[in-house]
Amino acid sequence: MQELRDKYLKAVADVSDEAALEEIRLAALGKKGEISLKMRELGKMTPEERQTTGKALNVLKDEIDAALRAKKVALADAALDARLKEEWLDVTLPGRPRRQGTIHPVSQVMDEVTAIFADMGFAVAEGPQIEDDWHNFDALNIAPEHPARQEHDTFFMHRDEGDDRPPHVLRTHTSPVQIRAMLEQGAPIRVIAPGRVYRMDMDQTHTPMFHQVEGLAIGKDISMANLKWVLEEFCKSFFEVDGVELRFRASHFPFTEPSAEVDIRCSWEGGSLKIGEGDDWMEILGSGMVHPKVLQSAGIDPSEWQGFAFGIGIDRLAMLKYGIPDLRAFFESDLRWLKHYGFSALDLPTVAGGLSR
Ligand code: DAH
Repeated sequence: MQELRDKYLKAVADVSDEAALEEIRLAALGKKGEISLKMRELGKMTPEERQTTGKALNVLKDEIDAALRAKKVALADAALDARLKEEWLDVTLPGRPRRQGTIHPVSQVMDEVTAIFADMGFAVAEGPQIEDDWHNFDALNIAPEHPARQEHDTFFMHRDEGDDRPPHVLRTHTSPVQIRAMLEQGAPIRVIAPGRVYRMDMDQTHTPMFHQVEGLAIGKDISMANLKWVLEEFCKSFFEVDGVELRFRASHFPFTEPSAEVDIRCSWEGGSLKIGEGDDWMEILGSGMVHPKVLQSAGIDPSEWQGFAFGIGIDRLAMLKYGIPDLRAFFESDLRWLKHYGFSALDLPTVAGGLSR
């Protein structure tokens, strides 16, 4: 018994992990453990022997059991101590610098544009970037053989032979959202739709993916004069100057009649772009009175309702406002460029609080 006691107490003292400790417990006190087996032998003893041996065995069992439990607690404490030593946090370290990441100028301008139009009562509408050709073209009065379809340099989605679903395209403009919004909400309606659009085009002022914001206002007596006022107010607010000069040029879009393109006065001197001065004009948007056929496609009665629409190039606005010369750099993910032209994530643009701080 003395041997058993020495053996197990030493084993418990020497062990250093919980799994090994459990093995010791089983070896001593488990069903087939040494001490349990000894207990079973009691039956074969004389009553006198049984009394002394049984008592001594019980004392031994309790002693080893207590040692096992104490060791278990000690091992758990040691494990916790080790973890605490490893997983620590220095709360006295200074915070991380605030401008780790920045808001991309396109996102910034989208937020600014949305804030300005929201202030004029326009709600935000959305549509899919993969659009069916009815919404992207037909409903906007762009017939299958219309040259505008080619001018848009469309990316078509791949179709397997025998696939008879309607053809889908990467939307070439945000104008299909006009149709979706009118079908969903009816008239009167006043919405803008900012988002990504796609065309096969690439040079200093064109990229295959770019951004537009569509505008649409339909009511009983909305006119070209309202369009002009809204766009002028927008430009003054966006560029934060009173002296923005706009040029309305007669133009043609299948979905508007009459149509106008709007240019903004600017200069390109020395490779940097300035607005409100100089002898150059930069086209920033297309607009016009929504064509009766477009209203009809969208379930609105053109003898009762009329209104204007416009589509603005967001990336162009960003270039103009923040003096960024090359559009291609917008989408190259060059960290130095993003650091230089990015905006703090914590300054949300609002008309009242300042748009471009
Ligand atoms: N969707 C035209 C484009 O991408 C822009 C445009 C022109 C939108 C006239 C309009 C509009 O809503 O009325 O070139």
